[in-house]
Amino acid sequence: MTQSDSRPRLQDFEGKTAIITGAASGIGLALAEALAARGADLALADIDARGLDAARKRLAPTGRRICTRVLDVSSDADVRDAAAEFEATLGRIHLVFNNAGIDMSGELASLSEQDWTRAFGINVFGVIHGIRHFLPLLRRHGEPAHFVSTASGAGLWVNGDFPMGAYAATKYSVVALSEALEQELRGTGIGVSVLCPGPVKTPIAERSNHASESFRAAVATGTAPELVASHTLEAMRAGEFYIFTPTRMRPRLEARFARILDALERAPAVTTGMAAT
Ligand SMILES: NC(=O)c1ccc[n+]([C@@H]2O[C@H](COP(=O)([O-])OP(=O)(O)OC[C@H]3O[C@@H](n4cnc5c(N)ncnc54)[C@H](O)[C@@H]3O)[C@@H](O)[C@H]2O)c1
Repeated sequence: MTQSDSRPRLQDFEGKTAIITGAASGIGLALAEALAARGADLALADIDARGLDAARKRLAPTGRRICTRVLDVSSDADVRDAAAEFEATLGRIHLVFNNAGIDMSGELASLSEQDWTRAFGINVFGVIHGIRHFLPLLRRHGEPAHFVSTASGAGLWVNGDFPMGAYAATKYSVVALSEALEQELRGTGIGVSVLCPGPVKTPIAERSNHASESFRAAVATGTAPELVASHTLEAMRAGEFYIFTPTRMRPRLEARFARILDALERAPAVTTGMAAT
């Protein structure tokens, strides 16, 4: 926090190197393609070895340097070892996309302990491990750097149309971690963003044992991942913290905040000596 903001701002992606988790599919793969098209080198990580291999082949014609690594983001050791390999192979890392994530639909009381552990292990600890092991790579140099985590619209509002409370709980955590990180990194010149997409047309629901019909339908008609990727990169360049994609959640978000602010009005008045928090 005491460091001065001497690091130049992120202006473009040419010659930058990006780590992307969940890079074998969906939003992660679209980010990889968009970054390669803009001249970035890639460190791609995913638990799906075949998918990662296919992604590498698909991206090979771009001529960018590409390093792939199979890992489980819920494992601290996996992410630590990947960080070391990416740096050893590609040198300075400028961009981190903590993007790997899974659906965890289902009513809260119906989920097993294993479901909860898996959801928080991947969606929340995946980001925590990125903060622990990828963020230091950005701190090591004074070139432009940006740290992005993929949350969801469900990170700001619990959508009653889908039984996805556990997923929302994980994504609220990602928003909180990102808000905290942005505060902690203020003055360092390292940008922070949190991507909060509405439904995106990816295989996320197909991979899930839990996805409801309503969630499957929303994803099947969701935004193209390519659009999510190009918008994300533009928003990062513009220094946006919250990054949204097309979603109908505005009225519901307004209602949620109005309810919170309304309740706040009814709180007892602040008395002398009380902390102003
Ligand atoms: N698709 C949507 O509608 C939507 C909406 C909001 C947020 N998101 C979020 O976007 C992110 C990307 O999802 P997507 O829609 O592209 O889904 P996807 O299933 O197409 O891609 C997710 C990728 O993460 C990988 N992955 C899963 N578990 C992993 C693990 N333990 N370690 C490493 N990699 C792992 C998968 O193999 C896959 O390649 C997720 O965090 C998701 O929660 C998606």
